[in-house]
Amino acid sequence: MEKKTLAKDAWGSRLGLILAMAGNAVGLGNFLRFPVQAVQNGGGAFIIPYLVCFLVMGIPLLFIEWSSGRFGGKYGNHSTPFILDTMGKGSLWKYIGVFGIFTNIAVVAYYTYIETWSLSYVLHTMLGTFEGMSQTQVAQFFDSYISIGSNSTGIPYEPVIFYVLVLALNVYILSKGLGGIEKAAKIGMPLLILFGIILAVKALTLGESGRSIEFPDASAWDGLNFLWTPQFDSLLNPKVWFAAAGQIFFTLSVGMGTIQCYASYLRANDDVALNAVSAGFMNEFVEVVLGSSIVIPIAAGFLGLDWVLENAGFGMAFQTMPFLFQQWGTTMAMFSGVFWFGLLFFAGITSSLAMGTPWMGFMKDEFGWGMKRGAWSFGLLALIMGLPTVFYYHLGVFDEYDYWGGTVSLVLFALLESVLFSWIFGINRGWQEITDGADIKVPNVFKFIIKYVTPFLLLLVFIGALVTPQGNDWTTNINNLLSGQGWELDNGSIIRKLSLYELKSQLTEAKSATDRDLIEDKVFYANFARIQLVVLFLFITMLVHIANIKRTKLLAK
Ligand code: PHE
Repeated sequence: MEKKTLAKDAWGSRLGLILAMAGNAVGLGNFLRFPVQAVQNGGGAFIIPYLVCFLVMGIPLLFIEWSSGRFGGKYGNHSTPFILDTMGKGSLWKYIGVFGIFTNIAVVAYYTYIETWSLSYVLHTMLGTFEGMSQTQVAQFFDSYISIGSNSTGIPYEPVIFYVLVLALNVYILSKGLGGIEKAAKIGMPLLILFGIILAVKALTLGESGRSIEFPDASAWDGLNFLWTPQFDSLLNPKVWFAAAGQIFFTLSVGMGTIQCYASYLRANDDVALNAVSAGFMNEFVEVVLGSSIVIPIAAGFLGLDWVLENAGFGMAFQTMPFLFQQWGTTMAMFSGVFWFGLLFFAGITSSLAMGTPWMGFMKDEFGWGMKRGAWSFGLLALIMGLPTVFYYHLGVFDEYDYWGGTVSLVLFALLESVLFSWIFGINRGWQEITDGADIKVPNVFKFIIKYVTPFLLLLVFIGALVTPQGNDWTTNINNLLSGQGWELDNGSIIRKLSLYELKSQLTEAKSATDRDLIEDKVFYANFARIQLVVLFLFITMLVHIANIKRTKLLAK
C-alpha cells in the first residue's frame, strides 16, 4: 500500500515528465495568442525582442522554477506557498506563494472555456455544420455560440453543457494522479504535433492558389514574409518588448506555480537543467514554427494580409478558419477542421490539467486530501469561477480574469520569486540547485543573468505595465515629463485598468440609453469578476494560514 502511494507521487518516466511539462507549456497560447501578438506588434518587428526575452527571462525563469520545485519536493512541499516558505526567511513568502495556486484557478476558469469551443467545433465540423456557410455566417455562428441560448447551434445551452463536460473530463484525468496526466500528454502531444505539421505543410504550400475573387492579391507568402522579415527599428520600442515578454510568460507557463508543482515530483538527484531546456525548446518549436505557419498564412492566402492586419484577434481561429477550410472542398474541410480544432483541444487540455495540480498538491500536503477529493474540489472551484465567464463572456468577465489572473499576476509573481531565488535564498545556493544532477553544463553566464538581468527586466516590465504612457508612446511621454508637462497614462496601464477608466469614460460619452445600459452592465460584471478573484485569493490565503497554524502546532508537539 505504502509503495503504491509513493509510486503515484512521482513521474513514471523521463519521457513522460518531459511530455507532461511540454504539454503544460504548449497550449492555446502557442496557436491563438502568439500569431495575434506577432501581427499586432509588427510581424518581423516582434520576433527579435521575443527571442531575446526567451533567452534572458524565459530560460532563467524555467531554471528558477524547475529547481525551486525539486527543492520543495525534498521537503514534501508540492505547491508554491510552502516551497517559497522553505526557501525564504520570514513569514511573508508563503502568502506570496498563494499566487501559485490562485492564478491557476483563475486561468483555468476561462481557459477551459476556449477548450470547450475547440471541442464543440470538432463536433460541428464532423456534423457538417459549417458546410456551405459564408464567412459572415461562420462569424455569426461564433457570436451566437458565445452569447448562449440562441438557436443557431441547435442545442440549447450548448456552451454551458460542453463546458461542464470538459471540466468533468479534466477532473476525471486529474483524479488519476500524475499517471493520468502523463497518459494524456503521451496521447495529446504527438497528435497535436502531427496535426500541426499537416496543417502547416498545407498552409506553406498554399502559395498564391488561395486567391479569391474579392481578394485577388492575396498570397500566403505575404503572411510569412510579414512574420519573418526582421525589422530592427522595433528594438527601441518598449511596447513591442512588453508584448514579447508577456507572450514568453504565458507560453512557457512561468509565473504560475505549475512548473514548480510538476518539478516537485522529481527525485532529489534528477536532472533539472536539461529537462527545463528540452521542454522550453519543444514549446518554442511548436510556437514559432507551427504556431506561425497555420492561421496567418492561411488567412493571408485567402483574405489578404491587409485583412489579417485589420482583423487579428482571438476569434480569428474560430470565426474564420471553418470558412477558409471550406475552400479546400468538403472532404479536406472536414479533415482540416478536425485537425485544427482537435489540435487546439489537445493543446488546451494538457495545459488545463497542469493548472489543477498545485491546488491538489497543496490540499494533499496540508490536509491529507486524496487525488479524488483534490480533483473534484478543484473542479468545483473552477466551475464557480468559470460559469460567469461562460454566461457573461460578452460582458467582459473572461477578459477580467485573463488580465488580472493570466497577465498581471504572472509578471508580479515571477518578479517576486526571482528576487527570492537570487537574493534571499541566495544565488549560490540557487545555482547549486540548478546544476546539481544536471545532464548539461549550464553556461556560467546564466548565474549572472539570473541574479541581475532577469529580476531587473521583470521589474522594468512590471513598472512599464503599471504606468504605460498614452498610446504606448514612451519617447514622447518621457520628453513631456522632462519638460514638465506631466505623464498621461494609457487606458491599458494597470492603474487605469484598476479604476475601469476606459469603461467609465465611455459611459460619459454614451449616446443612447441602450449604449449606456450595456456599458453599465459591463462595469457591473467587471466588478463582479474582481470580487470573485479577490474572494478566491482570500480563500486560499486563509487555507495557507490554517495550514501554517497546523504546522506550528505539529512542531510544538
Ligand atoms: N502555456 C500555456 C499556453 O501557452 C498556458 C498556461 C499557462 C498553461 C500557465 C499552464 C499554466 O497556452
